Amino acid sequence: MKILKTLARTFLLSLVLILLLGETETRGQQAGKSTAPFPETLNRIFSNSCTPCHTNKGGLMSRSRLNFNDWTLYSPEKQKEKADLIRSVLEKEKMPPKSARESRPEIILTKEQIGLIKNWADSLNSVNKK
Ligand code: HEC
Repeated sequence: MKILKTLARTFLLSLVLILLLGETETRGQQAGKSTAPFPETLNRIFSNSCTPCHTNKGGLMSRSRLNFNDWTLYSPEKQKEKADLIRSVLEKEKMPPKSARESRPEIILTKEQIGLIKNWADSLNSVNKK
């Protein structure tokens, strides 16, 4: 009788583990192909000027503040928060960082590009306002 109970417990435990592992795997896959959450024009700006640092292949500091690979895992509230942060660093010309601007001036955003990103951040605000 005792053996049966142990067996049943082991079985249930493995079932839970398998379910948990499966869950993590699907989430990982979704993060991997998260290229579509932005309009194409923004996608191009971000991949030209930001993703070398702000994706899984970037540095720890930049990745921990903003990681485009994780974007689709963020809640709408968090996406809005990050979009506002992006707008604010662009308005203050804090990003791309000074050192990167000097070595690769071609990644500096134009006024038009910053404008597009501002409009996008504003549009998120109104969509997510409840
Ligand atoms: C050369 C690498 C590099 C590039 C390119 C770069 N960043 Fe960053 N970014 C960093 C680093 C490092 C940090 C963290 C340290 C800091 O805040 O200065 C950071 C921080 C940030 C933060 C968080 C700021 C805060 O106050 O929390 C945002 C938002 C951001 N970057 C947006 C961008 C955007 C948008 C672009 C593209 C236009 C960009 N970054 C391009 C390296 C980079």
